[in-house]
Amino acid sequence: MIKTVEPALRLKGTITPPADKSIAQRAALFAMLCDRTSQITNYPVAEDPRTALACIRQLGAKVADDGVTVTITGTGRDNMAVPTGPVDCGNSGTVMRLLAGILAGAGIPATLIGDASLSRRPMKRIIDPLARMGAEIVSAEGGLPPLEIRHGNPLQPVRFRLPVASAQLKSCVLLAGLFGEDATQVVEPVSTRNHTETMLGLPVVREDGANVISSSRRQVIPAQNLQIPGDFSAAAFWLVAGSIIPDSEIVMPSTGVNPTRTASMHILRRMGADIVDEAKDRTGNEPAAHLRVRSAPLKPTRIRPEEIPNAIDELPVLCVAMAFADGVSRITGAEELRFKESDRLEAIQQVLEAAGVRVEGHRDGLTIYGEPGRKVRAARHDSRHDHRIAMAAAILSLMGDAPSQIDNAEAASVSYPEFWAHLDTLAHR
Ligand code: S3P
Repeated sequence: MIKTVEPALRLKGTITPPADKSIAQRAALFAMLCDRTSQITNYPVAEDPRTALACIRQLGAKVADDGVTVTITGTGRDNMAVPTGPVDCGNSGTVMRLLAGILAGAGIPATLIGDASLSRRPMKRIIDPLARMGAEIVSAEGGLPPLEIRHGNPLQPVRFRLPVASAQLKSCVLLAGLFGEDATQVVEPVSTRNHTETMLGLPVVREDGANVISSSRRQVIPAQNLQIPGDFSAAAFWLVAGSIIPDSEIVMPSTGVNPTRTASMHILRRMGADIVDEAKDRTGNEPAAHLRVRSAPLKPTRIRPEEIPNAIDELPVLCVAMAFADGVSRITGAEELRFKESDRLEAIQQVLEAAGVRVEGHRDGLTIYGEPGRKVRAARHDSRHDHRIAMAAAILSLMGDAPSQIDNAEAASVSYPEFWAHLDTLAHR
């Protein structure tokens, strides 16, 4: 699908961001592991969360969806079904990595496959610790999917220090640990999103400045009765758009503001953005707030390596904000972006350059030369089938000197199917 994005004079209105994909996928997987019934309200219609539901069905969970509430009757830890065919994780790294931990822990033989993008993403990072625990996993060459998880002996507990700041890797090892008699521990020197430990109620202690999270068979897996908050990572597109487009004001009710997800809000505020998070409440264990953004002049900034994990999915659109700052901004320590649904450092550099923004690419980041109030050049952008690149290119195009085109724009549906409709609601031309 090719989308034409017309320049906007201003963005105004209230939109409800889609339900959080990271939380929804976990809710589905954890509900399968629970032997009771879970009721999850505001379950998203986006593709990745739907993939999670299809996968747990294949493994024996019962899923009923009345359009508002998804009801899942789990199999419990020990009664998952051996799938008769490959389990298709679609575009979702979270589903593949978390499910690999569950299946290896449970000793369920299965083959995990994914789409073209997921089939290029590194899985060695999860195979190594699972193999240390005693799992037998066969991958394609170079540690790429498909992953064949062989029937194995019960896994041994490990103490595993994360070599990369990845919540998916942390979750994979902790989920495998749920099947062991003794505790598996994951040592996390730099905090990443904490939904797995929060939703499962896993014990977390601080040791020498690191989080140490434990899991074992003794952990009772709670039913996942929750209302999923709005996805902060989706809201971030509008936080940037509302900041850079003059005379804008956007309100987003009930958006998740878990501190392990919202570093980009602090980075934007440091740049001068006018963002208010008010009427704070909780949906389940997750903090949520009404967000309001108004346009504001932006200053350049430096994003430091330690800020990257809690802003990881928002970096492409933060790069768009930097193109409109009054000076030169720099991101370092972000090489993980090369291993997302696309090489996001390369992809966003190409998008910005096509629009006439000066960018220098580095191994682990970018330097972006901003100009406040500029109009960018209209261009034809390719999403590379990456949802966040499609949406970041669209936000940039709102500041174009003429209409721009986004190729493979349907990718937005992986996390935010309503994105294009929300853009039309907010944009005044
Ligand atoms: C996610 C973790 C992050 C993030 C991804 C979702 C999760 O990936 O980029 O979109 O749900 O745990 P990594 O753990 O690989 O950094």
